[in-house]
Amino acid sequence: MAEVKQIPPVSEPGSNGAAAPRKSVSQDENAPHSAPSAPAYQARFAHIVGWGYHVPAKVITNHDLEQIVDTNDEWIRTRTGIAERHVAADPKETSVTLAVAAARKALEVADVPASKIDLIVCSTTTPEYSFPATACLIQNALGAHNAGAFDLSAACSGFVYGLAMARGQILAGDAEYVLVIGTETLSRIVDWTDRETCILFGDGAGAVLVAASDVPGGIMAVELGSDGSGGDTLIVPAGGSAMPTSLESVSSGMHYIKMDGKAVFRFATRVMASATRKVLDRAGFTTDEVDLVVPHQANIRIIQNSVLNQLKIPADKVFVNLERYGNTSTASIPIALCEAIEAGKLKPGYKVVFVGFGAGLTWAACAIDWRTPVEKQSTDWWRATRRQATYGAAAARSMWKRTVRWVYDVLPTDPEAPARDDGKDKETRDAPLKETARSRDAT
Ligand code: COA
Repeated sequence: MAEVKQIPPVSEPGSNGAAAPRKSVSQDENAPHSAPSAPAYQARFAHIVGWGYHVPAKVITNHDLEQIVDTNDEWIRTRTGIAERHVAADPKETSVTLAVAAARKALEVADVPASKIDLIVCSTTTPEYSFPATACLIQNALGAHNAGAFDLSAACSGFVYGLAMARGQILAGDAEYVLVIGTETLSRIVDWTDRETCILFGDGAGAVLVAASDVPGGIMAVELGSDGSGGDTLIVPAGGSAMPTSLESVSSGMHYIKMDGKAVFRFATRVMASATRKVLDRAGFTTDEVDLVVPHQANIRIIQNSVLNQLKIPADKVFVNLERYGNTSTASIPIALCEAIEAGKLKPGYKVVFVGFGAGLTWAACAIDWRTPVEKQSTDWWRATRRQATYGAAAARSMWKRTVRWVYDVLPTDPEAPARDDGKDKETRDAPLKETARSRDAT
């Protein structure tokens, strides 16, 4: 984006881009006793410069749910505000494929190649695996070969936690570009026989690219909170070290979301308002100055009871799209941000708040002085083709690396060593994993 000026890392020439450690005066015994000259630190700011989202094509309406559980459209609409949700019906659609589609759009908006990303923070409650991190699989699919990558677990607050990480890395001088993603396939951990939870959730992904800049503004303040005493109010009990997956855990449905809806509701209405107040205070904004609030899209009544009623922020400044997506957990705020931009609700100079809550229990808010132009840039065919080519090259590079690993695996390294199995057992064992990797590379 043209207006967001990039600045070099705040580091000594010749260093690897990390901020140089300060040398204490006492370390250098020959130093004259004069005031050390201050290093030329430049102010850094963290701006969102790219955004994108992706949702699966399959839509499940409230009327569809009436066929599955004892519920009705009127109850769901009045108690939650939700009318329909997108669901990853195709087994090939996973948290990674949704995230990669969203991330590619964010990079396109920012017009930044994946090779420039320094860090990928993926927030998800439905990771591809326990490990490796979903963020690493996204890194591979994007061809972001200069990026570190990790997953962040803070449930529905996770996207704002991710923005806080991105801001911290950028202000510390450790990163120029951080990709923050919220991605979910909650339909895979929802109990479709539990009417209290299956009506709420949906699948999708949203991504933003956060960039270092010397232009004042961007993410001005963050407020993160947690209260683990409420951990059991919203939980997937099985699959972790406390209750490893077993026939018993699966047959008793412990691998599905369990929720005390009323307790979560009470907690949410309280923290949404207090977190917003705190973050505005920290950023030096008043509630009257706020131009746009993008809240976590869980339940319209939570948004009304907190942001509208307690903070007295008018409804036309609060973006809501939960009617069409339900609660997409970590993806809800970035999806809503993208749609707010599409709807012309966000302009440079606006003061914006993101605020969310979730399992943990956790909550998070950030205040943004938005400076990035939001007009849709026309992409010329050459840039689009080049971008596609880099993704093709990323898939080829990934396949080549896998092939090299396979060659090392089957070649005898020590001729004296006892014969290894002929690879057939391993092949059978690894077949499902290889198929997953192949289909991911193909998307
Ligand atoms: N359809 C029809 N009736 C339903 C129903 C459904 N899908 N789910 C529950 N009910 C029934 C209940 O069984 C209860 O019946 P009863 O009075 O005969 O016992 C009645 O509706 C009222 O249930 P209640 O739990 O009091 O409803 P509620 O107004 O608290 O709404 C939630 C339930 C789940 C919508 C609400 O508590 C909520 O949104 N909580 C927050 C959840 C959330 O945001 N989680 C994600 C956090 S990131």
